[in-house]
Amino acid sequence: MREELSVDTVEQVKLQAFQELESASDDAALEQWRVAYLGRSGKITQLLRGLGALDPDERRVVGAAANKAKGVLSDGLDLRIKALKDALLAGRLDTESIDVTLPGLPAPQGRLHPITQTRREIEEAFVAMGFEVREGPEVEWDRYNFDMLNIPKEHPARDMWDTMWVDNENAEGERSMLLRTHTSPMQARIMEATEPPVRVIVPGKVYRYEATDPTHEWHFQQVEGLAVDEGITLANLKGTLFEFARRVFGEERKVRFRCDFFPFVEPGVDMSIDCFKCGGDGCHICGHTGWIEILGAGMVHPNVLSGVGYDPQKYTGFAFGMGVERIAMLKYGIDDVRNFYANDLRFLSQF
Ligand code: DAH
Repeated sequence: MREELSVDTVEQVKLQAFQELESASDDAALEQWRVAYLGRSGKITQLLRGLGALDPDERRVVGAAANKAKGVLSDGLDLRIKALKDALLAGRLDTESIDVTLPGLPAPQGRLHPITQTRREIEEAFVAMGFEVREGPEVEWDRYNFDMLNIPKEHPARDMWDTMWVDNENAEGERSMLLRTHTSPMQARIMEATEPPVRVIVPGKVYRYEATDPTHEWHFQQVEGLAVDEGITLANLKGTLFEFARRVFGEERKVRFRCDFFPFVEPGVDMSIDCFKCGGDGCHICGHTGWIEILGAGMVHPNVLSGVGYDPQKYTGFAFGMGVERIAMLKYGIDDVRNFYANDLRFLSQF
């Protein structure tokens, strides 16, 4: 005979369900319990299906009780699952032990950017020869970037540097503040503030108003060098830069100096090293010449010395400037300067 459907029946089913849930102690038993009560033909589902046979008043009351029972039973199931999991874990903690001496997971390790590495290597070579490392402003006055370096306004030598101005034109149509186009302005700043002897290098970022291509960036880094004292000659320049080339590009390096023009030096030179790839026979790195140009240099122009208040009769000096990216490209055989600033870890993590 069919059991009569009432709030009592619902309560009884619920009670029985809870008792059985308490004794279900593994995944299989819990699943069995779920099917038996909450599954498609489970007891609670059956009760809900039977509601249709009741008269409306009863249906409302019994239906509410049955739905509530369904809710608390499925909450109960969730709690039971969690309790069993916790117990399992507690059991493991009691019986197992953790070996704190096991090696940990390796933490990903950062590294210095290849340009920073190269810059430091250049710095070390000069510091070892008694040079001091100084830095200067990247936003510079026209005066230091050009005038004090013997490059007056309207002089065609200014065309050697594509300039990014950062201020507006004044009434005369002139601008005076720029992103420095080279690190040379620090020559004047340092000499203005110091008495000779001076022996410094100035690493730092420089900017040019320029389209990028494999050998041009609109921003890059340079290392400037300056030595001023009584009796400094071109021989000192050659000795110092030769030593630098050997430290950075290998003991067996040869160097070559040729005349070049830079407004702030007289005479001006460029320095090349013999090709470390082909040893001077000629290859694609050295453009089949056997030589690679790596920097510009020269004896500080008397106008630059007197401009900062040094007596050019008493003091002489040499200066040089090199591009850090260029040095790094040569050292590592990189053919596109833009790689350095593309933030591609596949490239950067090779250094
Ligand atoms: N400032 C020059 C440039 O950016 C590089 C340079 C050449 C610096 C000769 C010097 C030098 O100090 O003597 O092209």
